[in-house]
Amino acid sequence: KKIVTIIGARPQFIKAAPVSREIRKHFTEIIVHTGQHYDKNMSDIFFEELQIPKPDYSLNVGSSSHGKQTGEMLIQIEEVLLKEEPDYVLVYGDTNSTLAGSLAASKLHIPVVHIEAGLRSFNKKMPEEINRIMTDHVSQYLFCPTQTAVDNLKDENITQGVHNVGDVMYDAVLYNLQLAEKSSVLENHGLEKNSYHLITLHRAENTDDQKRMENIISAFQQIDKTLIWPIHPRTKNKLEGYGIRLDEISNLKVIEPVGYLDMLTLVSNAEKILTDSGGVQKEAYFLKIPCVTLREETEWVETVQNKGNVLVGSDTEKILAAANSSYVSEYQPAFGDGESAKHIAELLKR
Ligand code: UD1
Ligand code: UDP
Repeated sequence: KKIVTIIGARPQFIKAAPVSREIRKHFTEIIVHTGQHYDKNMSDIFFEELQIPKPDYSLNVGSSSHGKQTGEMLIQIEEVLLKEEPDYVLVYGDTNSTLAGSLAASKLHIPVVHIEAGLRSFNKKMPEEINRIMTDHVSQYLFCPTQTAVDNLKDENITQGVHNVGDVMYDAVLYNLQLAEKSSVLENHGLEKNSYHLITLHRAENTDDQKRMENIISAFQQIDKTLIWPIHPRTKNKLEGYGIRLDEISNLKVIEPVGYLDMLTLVSNAEKILTDSGGVQKEAYFLKIPCVTLREETEWVETVQNKGNVLVGSDTEKILAAANSSYVSEYQPAFGDGESAKHIAELLKR
């Protein structure tokens, strides 16, 4: 049987690595890279480091507004699916690449497999929330990372084809943690273990709002700690547009986005992590590093319930208080057994 996998953004490459390894034991896989992310350090570096097979199709869609970007993907994905006639189309997460893949496939009556199904922030202003709801409602296989995700789907009357398989990002962390020990990212940036905070920030609700960005950066400036910040290109562009300069902030080391192995090293040796990333919140939790989430809500509620994560939004004082306080994660396994990809392959094979 044949599976067409649609990926396009950084977190999807990371999720695809363990899944591709497993499904290729039983299926023919054709990889379509939409080109949503295209810089070397947002795309190629992950294919190389994580040994993801080279895409069979590169759509080179690039950056644009939501409608244009999704529309161009839709047109090209449909052509690929008509040509390849796969048994399944596999999509990940909640990006515009996910939506385009699931929409193209469902209109052609090709079963959609959604990995990371059932996540909800209950905030429809997030583009990701629209993408996930739409995708879940046209999927035949809904592979959920958590019980919460299963429950969310049930609340929308989706019960068929729903499986709690755990989180493929947990598989990725376990597989790569040892490999990451070879990384020299700490030495390269003059960082001591457990003595810096790691920052990542790219969510539209933050980056597209100048006031929120000013509040957040004002907090960063006041944290008495070295902060390392691999900056997302979206954020870099937005800050330039606002005329906000980071090079004058003495405790802040802003670097280009890093590869996954360097990132795992940065995460696992941080004293704390301040982020609005979905993936990074989970990695902080898996590796038991306290996380401060620069959002009002999270899809990853288990990380907050188990005290590994606090939500502070963009409030300067709240960010400072959380960054300076010490709290201990009451870690409970909530994201599966680290063999999610294997469970997915087994279920699809049936
Ligand atoms: C996208 C996803 C988001 C996900 C994130 C992961 C959507 C709606 N958003 O957000 O859910 O969390 O990826 O990182 O699908 N850019 C570059 N080079 C690149 C890629 C992007 O310079 O290789 C810049 C461009 O200015 C572009 C901007 O980043 O306009 C935003 O990129 P886009 O893919 O539209 O959204 P992300 O913010 O990356
Ligand atoms: N990541 C990375 N290099 C970076 C920043 C993030 O490899 O410079 C990894 C991170 O460890 C996680 C994934 O990218 O595995 C998260 O992607 P991102 O934050 O872009 O998107 P989200 O998870 O919020 O959709």
